[in-house]
Amino acid sequence: MASASSTGSSLCSERLLGKVAVVTGGANGIGASIVRSFLRHGAKVCVADIEDDAGHRLVESLSFDHIFYCHCNVAVEEDVKRAVDAAVAKYGTVDIMVNNAGITGPFGADIRNVDISMFEQVFDVNVKGVFSGMKHAARVMIPKKKGAIISTCSVAGVMGGVGPHAYTGSKHAVVGLTKSAACELGQHGIRVNCVAPYGVVTGLSLSIVPHKKGTDEEKLAVAALRHDMAEKANLKGVELTANDVANAVVFLASDEANYISGVNLMVDGGFSAVYNSFRNLAQIE
Ligand SMILES: NC(=O)c1ccc[n+]([C@@H]2O[C@H](COP(=O)([O-])OP(=O)(O)OC[C@H]3O[C@@H](n4cnc5c(N)ncnc54)[C@H](O)[C@@H]3O)[C@@H](O)[C@H]2O)c1
Repeated sequence: MASASSTGSSLCSERLLGKVAVVTGGANGIGASIVRSFLRHGAKVCVADIEDDAGHRLVESLSFDHIFYCHCNVAVEEDVKRAVDAAVAKYGTVDIMVNNAGITGPFGADIRNVDISMFEQVFDVNVKGVFSGMKHAARVMIPKKKGAIISTCSVAGVMGGVGPHAYTGSKHAVVGLTKSAACELGQHGIRVNCVAPYGVVTGLSLSIVPHKKGTDEEKLAVAALRHDMAEKANLKGVELTANDVANAVVFLASDEANYISGVNLMVDGGFSAVYNSFRNLAQIE
């Protein structure tokens, strides 16, 4: 396969030229957008995911040389280690680690009925998975005295009421781990940050709306979700897309963010900055 640059297709400024990245949960949704953006900016990418078919399809659909898929369940530390080592074996190092894989767990359960094994599953992926990514990226980055680690948090990482308990707790933990790792790894020149999106239409958010995949029901579910998210959003007239989140990740991964570490970059159009119950108080006469 020819690279986009060798085929002359348009590359905007290559802000990640030559950097090697591992993107967990990279086969779908926000992760796939991050993968595409990284490639456009000249990075080499290891897509790490559990959905092997989707991962291989993504790699084959992209006309870039420097990308490969690696099966990796982030809840299993050995898998994360293997994905990082595979990137090192293929491209020599890892400069950027994106801990993006995440699950919500079931919505709407009365706290008295929460199944603790489901709670643990969410923490295994969203917290242990992120920590394993930080740990194994640090293993490669510390000797080089540089690197950028970025995790996907959520508005549910800074407020309650926008996701299930396990999801909310796990995303708050991502902010904590980001600060903790930024604190230890700063001495090695490694930056650690996270991004916190508002709602984006993906498989994850669509799972909230009951529907059958691949049917007209799915189109209706997408429309209902978009409508609901637009109504609840703070910033009007624009819809948050996976690409907007990817742009924030590219920034944090790039040298433009050279002195930014320990930050949770909200990609939420101000949603978390506004106390929604009092939203229109200023306008009330
Ligand atoms: N979509 C949203 O509205 C939204 C909002 C805020 C934050 N997020 C966060 O963004 C991240 C990406 O979510 P998305 O919306 O793109 O969801 P998605 O379901 O479209 O994609 C998630 C990807 O993670 C993979 N994955 C799931 N469990 C995994 C595991 N154990 N190991 C490796 N890969 C695994 C899936 O196979 C999938 O490819 C998640 O961390 C999510 O919490 C999403």
